[in-house]
Amino acid sequence: MTMAIPQIFAPGLFGDRVFLVSGAAGGVGGAVARLLASLGAKLALTDLGAGALDAVAGPLGALALPADIRDVAACEALVAQALARFGRIDGLVNAAGVWVEGETAHATEAEWDRCIDVNLKGTFFLCSRAIPALTASKGAIVNIASDAGVVGNAGAAIYCASKGGVLVLSRALALELAPLGVRVNALCPSDILSPMLQGQADRFGGGDPAGYLSRLLGHYPQGAAARFLSVEEVAANVAFLLSPAAAGITGAAQMLDFGLTAGY
Ligand SMILES: NC(=O)c1ccc[n+]([C@@H]2O[C@H](COP(=O)([O-])OP(=O)(O)OC[C@H]3O[C@@H](n4cnc5c(N)ncnc54)[C@H](O)[C@@H]3O)[C@@H](O)[C@H]2O)c1
Repeated sequence: MTMAIPQIFAPGLFGDRVFLVSGAAGGVGGAVARLLASLGAKLALTDLGAGALDAVAGPLGALALPADIRDVAACEALVAQALARFGRIDGLVNAAGVWVEGETAHATEAEWDRCIDVNLKGTFFLCSRAIPALTASKGAIVNIASDAGVVGNAGAAIYCASKGGVLVLSRALALELAPLGVRVNALCPSDILSPMLQGQADRFGGGDPAGYLSRLLGHYPQGAAARFLSVEEVAANVAFLLSPAAAGITGAAQMLDFGLTAGY
């Protein structure tokens, strides 16, 4: 399902801009790619599988760079390939991520490694290797963290650790890169209608995915009107944080969560 978002950006906003987006075959990354392309940007898109990535990149005329961001050399190559094609990078959007859930007493090393390596290590090294290009362009980074990087989610300690790490690394980088004119922000969405959320419900819903999703909605302050975010809503907030309108915003943990983490 796609949700129409009111057009709040000028059509040519990113006309001469180049963005590198990870997780671009996924729900959020794909929506980010489509929105940035519609605003005139040139895109280098990355994700694990070539097929799904091509399906997003093809219609947008984007450069598709399949890669596993757990590999530092792959992060370096992604930045180098984007630069080789476009000559500049104005923004990096880290939207690749994986969800891990389960009782901590039974957590495996493989679960820890996968979640931390994709969500935290991959995000870190894409940021790291993009710094020279972003310094040259006075660019911006948007890291997709989560409400789960701000408050704990029972049964998701590894995921929370990864997203808390993304949040604080974004703040640290914002301070480090401010003198270079590069902005860094973490966007912290609550549950998003995306393949990740559906996968969570299918895998961890105890055979009742609808019940799993309904329990999540029960946490929101809107009561019966609670709903999940659309990927388009998340993408609109990413575009805002990349845009000149957000020139004064860096080091932010931007909540996009219907007040879920505001208190109780
Ligand atoms: N879906 C939610 O409810 C939700 C809520 C808050 C934050 N987030 C975060 O938003 C981001 C986007 O999530 P989404 O909902 O679009 O999920 P998604 O599963 O639709 O997309 C994530 C993408 O990351 C890619 N990916 C996974 N491992 C990778 C690797 N090693 N190398 C490269 N790419 C890899 C996947 O192939 C997938 O296409 C993630 O960081 C997620 O943690 C999601």
